[in-house]
Amino acid sequence: LDNGVGQTPPMGWNSWNHFQCDISEALIKETADAMVSTGLADLGYQYINIDDCWAELNRDSKGYMVAKSSTFPSGMKALADYVHSKGLKLGIYSDAGNQTCSKRMPGSLGHEEQDAKTFASWGIDYLKYDNCENNDVTPKERYPRMGEALVQSGRPIFYSLCEWGAEDPSIWGKSVGNSWRTTSDIEDKWDSMISCADQNNKWASYAGPGGWNDPDMLEVGNGGMTTEEYRAHFSIWALVKAPLLIGCDIRALDDITKELLRNSEVIAVNQDKLGIQGKKVKSNDDLEVWAGPLSDNRLAVVLWNRSSSKAIVTASWSDLGLKPGTSIDARDLWEHSTQSKVSGDISAELDSHACKMYILTPN
Ligand code: GLA
Repeated sequence: LDNGVGQTPPMGWNSWNHFQCDISEALIKETADAMVSTGLADLGYQYINIDDCWAELNRDSKGYMVAKSSTFPSGMKALADYVHSKGLKLGIYSDAGNQTCSKRMPGSLGHEEQDAKTFASWGIDYLKYDNCENNDVTPKERYPRMGEALVQSGRPIFYSLCEWGAEDPSIWGKSVGNSWRTTSDIEDKWDSMISCADQNNKWASYAGPGGWNDPDMLEVGNGGMTTEEYRAHFSIWALVKAPLLIGCDIRALDDITKELLRNSEVIAVNQDKLGIQGKKVKSNDDLEVWAGPLSDNRLAVVLWNRSSSKAIVTASWSDLGLKPGTSIDARDLWEHSTQSKVSGDISAELDSHACKMYILTPN
């Protein structure tokens, strides 16, 4: 969407994966506080996004959506002011249908202008727009209206389409949204995570500054995967220029989760100014190589063992599109060490489900 936002993939936090409908004003404020105190804000995580269940079931007598008084008693304007005072941005959620997926609050279908103006007047910076209760009308007909209404509101609001891959991004993509979901909902499980990665991979060529493919939010830190699975989840989401929306309770981060989410070298791959989505370039019995170009003639590479036993994963120069004989420096983004003057291929022995992530710089 041509609204000036989303020149790099959005980074922040969203309430859904960990809290579902169990959200409140206090939770959002404490999360904003934690974003700053944990150092995540300084690394670029800026959006604090409220998902489903924030509004009263019914609109008021003038048709306005209102924040649920039992959980958000001060209202959204006051909450936005608080989040902005921390140097962060506030996101909210609605649905291109009659109700949201929880059925606990109204959707915005038929109220696009009114709701976009309301969100803008509160100081909202990001809208996630879901796809439930949609009267079987295609996303293509329902989603552009809210995009236009957001632009008309005069406030730059990141527009995140949550249509679960129901529409082929080639027919709308960047003209309608700043990101679009390419998958059904992620679960905090290995099989779900790799399936999201693979579905999203099909649309790599449609991503770029201003409009990104969205394989759904991060599960890192929620407890359902091993450390190496979460490391791979975070590495691949960074490489494919996915939104980096943390989905755990950042008020209580353990050391491993901190190490994963705060890896500035991995984050820099995601936020690279070229904005080209990395792709799966080789898959051989679940031994995979994912790679993509970065600015200054560099390459980001993930070697990933998706098999159930220990194995050596190798990326040859031809897998990576490098000329034979090219000499590179390989920076290991998780070990934080550099191997100089490598040529021919790069390989690593990896435990089941583990990965290595590198930036290759030609000498
Ligand atoms: C859908 C979306 C999820 C979440 C829930 C909320 O399932 O895909 O990301 O927003 O609705 O009800």
